[in-house]
Amino acid sequence: MTDTIGVMSETELVGWGERLGRGLRPPALIALTGDLGAGKTTLTQAICRGYGVRDEVTSPTFAIVHVYQAPPSPVFHVDLYRLEGPRDLQNIGWDDMVRGDAIVIVEWPGRAGAAIPHDALALELRLVEGDPARRELLRHRTTGVAA
Ligand SMILES: Nc1ncnc2c1ncn2[C@@H]1O[C@H](COP(=O)(O)OP(=O)(O)OP(=O)(O)O)[C@@H](O)[C@H]1O
Ligand SMILES: [Mg+2]
Repeated sequence: MTDTIGVMSETELVGWGERLGRGLRPPALIALTGDLGAGKTTLTQAICRGYGVRDEVTSPTFAIVHVYQAPPSPVFHVDLYRLEGPRDLQNIGWDDMVRGDAIVIVEWPGRAGAAIPHDALALELRLVEGDPARRELLRHRTTGVAA
């Protein structure tokens, strides 16, 4: 099941992300899908700011994982774009990240296959045809016990 949360300008998306971040309690995993340039990192930066991260949040495309400290818990920002496959997750400390009492925000979660927990908050950003300044934000709900 998929719900549209809204079609948002960058300012609106950032405001939405900051509010989400303010309400987050660890442990939580947020899976962000969307095309290149859809706004996954922009949304992550807003979520982190709302959660209390004061450092600059930059795209972890090359490092795969960046970790930030915030008063409630660490935040792991993970970009799996360059991951070869789910087997590489062990090299980035995936199990400890996901099992720990932290916030984990994952771009390109499809690369992790079944390693994404069913109770993840699954968000998708979509480009809007003919409107380069807006993005559609959707939430995917998995069916099943944890949905
Ligand atoms: N409504 C909007 N919401 C989010 N970003 C927007 C919006 N309108 C324009 N943008 C621009 O789109 C770009 C989104 O880039 P961002 O790095 O956040 O995307 P990404 O999904 O993380 O890409 P990648 O797949 O390369 O990691 C930014 O340059 C941002 O300024
Ligand atoms: Mg990104």
